[in-house]
Amino acid sequence: MAIPNSFLDELVGRTDITELVGGYVQLTKRGGGNMFGLCPFHSEKTPSFSVSVDKQIYHCFGCGKGGGAINFIMEIENLPFRDAVEFLARRAGMTVPDDSAPDELAGKRKRMLEINRDAARFFHEMLMSESSVYAKKYLAERGISPKMAKTFGLGAVPDAWSSLLDAMTAKGYSRQELIEAGLARKGKKEGAAYDLFRNRLIFPVIDIRGSVIGFSGRILGDGEPKYLNSPDTLVFNKSRNLFALNLAKKSKAGMLILAEGNIDVIALHQAGFDCAVASLGTALTAEQVRLMSRYADNAVIAYDSDEAGRKAALRAIDMFEKTKMGVKVIDFGDSKDPDEFLKNHGIDAFERLLERSENHIEYRLMTVKNRSDLASDEGRLKFLTETTKLLSELGSKPEREVYGARVAKIAGVSPESVENEVAKMLRINRAQRRRQHEKQIIRPAQNLQPVDRTLRYKNEYSAAAEEGIIRCLVRDPMLLKVAEEMGLAAEEFTSEFLAKVFTVLNRRGARGEETGAALLMAELEGNEASQLTVILQKPEAIPNGEKSIRAYIERIRTEKLKSGNPDEQLLLSIKKYRERKDVGGG
Ligand code: UTP
Ligand code: MN
Repeated sequence: MAIPNSFLDELVGRTDITELVGGYVQLTKRGGGNMFGLCPFHSEKTPSFSVSVDKQIYHCFGCGKGGGAINFIMEIENLPFRDAVEFLARRAGMTVPDDSAPDELAGKRKRMLEINRDAARFFHEMLMSESSVYAKKYLAERGISPKMAKTFGLGAVPDAWSSLLDAMTAKGYSRQELIEAGLARKGKKEGAAYDLFRNRLIFPVIDIRGSVIGFSGRILGDGEPKYLNSPDTLVFNKSRNLFALNLAKKSKAGMLILAEGNIDVIALHQAGFDCAVASLGTALTAEQVRLMSRYADNAVIAYDSDEAGRKAALRAIDMFEKTKMGVKVIDFGDSKDPDEFLKNHGIDAFERLLERSENHIEYRLMTVKNRSDLASDEGRLKFLTETTKLLSELGSKPEREVYGARVAKIAGVSPESVENEVAKMLRINRAQRRRQHEKQIIRPAQNLQPVDRTLRYKNEYSAAAEEGIIRCLVRDPMLLKVAEEMGLAAEEFTSEFLAKVFTVLNRRGARGEETGAALLMAELEGNEASQLTVILQKPEAIPNGEKSIRAYIERIRTEKLKSGNPDEQLLLSIKKYRERKDVGGG
C-alpha cells in the first residue's frame, strides 16, 4: 500500500509550495528568498510564518510548525498522509500509483452515499407516516413546522432494534454495509447487527453537493445521550462539514449565522434566517471556518448564552479573525439560545439584535465587564488591566481611542489614563516580540530543545553537532561521502529523531535519490518535519561545509567519550576511520 518514493519526489517536485501555501495564507516577499504571512496554525497579529522558496519548506517561528508541501496539506486540511498525497496529486494532475485502491474506494463511497440516501428516505417516510405519533408530537412541542420538517428532510425511527436494518436489507444492502455506513452496530452474536438510531428524531446531514453524508438523532424529550451522531465514515467527517450548509449556501443574506444546536438552526430558518448553520456536535474547526468563508463574507456567532457558549464564541472569533470574513457576536442575554430567544422575543427582536450585533472587540470588553466586580477598586483595576491588554491588540489608533474611551467610562477613570496604559502595553508587546525574535532566530543555540517534548535531546552538546551534520547534509549531499568516509553510523546519534533523518538521507543518497529538504519531509512524521525545519533555519557557523561536518562528527565522538560509555559501534567507527586515514595519508 506504500506510495513509492519516486512518485512522492515527482509530486513534491511539481508542487510549488509558495503557490500551495498562498492559497491559504497571504504571503509577502521579504528578501532572502523567503515569503512571510500570518500563521494559519495559531493566532497571531504579526507574521512569523515563513515559506522558503528555494528549500520549498515552510516554518512558523511562533508555533514551531513546519515541513514540506505534504505536511502542510496534512496539517491544514486535517488529512492523513495518504489523503494529503492524493489531494496534492489531484492538484498536480497526477494519479497516485499502487493497486486499484482509489477506484475501489470511489465505488465504496458512491455505494455508501446511496445507502445514506435510502436511509434518509426511510426515516423521512417514517416521520410522515400515520404510525409516527411521538416524533410528530415532539416536533409540535418544539414549534417546528411540517414545512421545516420537509425542508430539512427530518425523520423518525421507531423504538425497535432493527427497523432500518430490516428495511435496508430488504432493499439489498448487507449488514456489513450498514455497519460501515455507521447506521448499524455489530451485535454480540456472529453476523448479528442492530440499529444505531432508535426512537429518535433524525436530522440528516447533507453536504454542499446535496449528498446525505451522515445523521444526527435527538432523543424525543429528556434523556441521555441527548444526541447520537453517525460516526465518521468514508463519506462523513464531522470536522469538515456543517449542518444545513446545503441550505444556507443558497441564502442571499451575505452572511452565515453560526449556532450551536440543530434545533436552533431549524428555528432560525423557520423564522426566515435561512443562512443559519451549526457544527456537528464538535468544537468549531479551522476547516469549517474556511468552508464558511467560501460562501459568505460575514459570520455572525449565535451561540448559547451560557459560560460554555461564551467561551466557544471567543474561540470562534479568533478563528474567524484569521480569515477575511467579518465576524460579529450576538448576545442573547436572558434567553439561553437563538431558539428560546425567538420564542420569547420574536423575529423583529432577533432582527434588531442582528443589526446591532456587537463586533468582537465590544463583545470581548463586555465579557470582561460582566465578570468584573466594578463596585470595588480592586475589581476596577483588574478590569482595566484586562481591557488594556485587549485594547493594545487593536490594529488602529482610532479604534484604540474609541474603545479606550468606553473602557475609561465604565471604570470611571479619565480617557488619558487609559490611553497611557495602552501605550505602555504596546511598548511592552513590542519589546517582547523583539526578544522572542532574537531568541528564536538570532540566538538559536539557546533554543536548542525541540518544542515537541517527545523529540527532546538527551545530550544537548552532542545534539547540537548532530543537528549540524543534518544541516550540512541537506545543504550539500556531496558531504554524504565525507560522513561515509568517517564511518559515521546512525547509532552514533544520541537523538533518535536525528538518527532517523540521517538514515533517510543515507538511504536516499545510496539509491541516488534526491535529498532536498522538501523530499525528506515526506518521510517524516509531522512533529519531526516541524523540528527539521527549525534545524534547517539555523545559520551555519562555519561556511566551509566539509570542514563543518568533520568538526561536527569529531564533536559527537568526543561527547560520547566524555559521557564515559563509548559503545562498540563508536569505537569500531573510529578505528575504521583512523585506519583509512593512515592508509590514505600514507
Ligand atoms: P444542545 O444541547 O444545545 O442541543 O447541543 P440543541 O440542538 O440546541 O437542542 P435543544 O434545543 O436543547 O433541544 C448543541 C449541539 O451539540 C451537539 C448537537 O449537534 C447539538 O445540536 N450535541 C449535543 C451532541 O452531539 N451530543 C449531545 O449529547 C448533545
Ligand atoms: Mn441548544
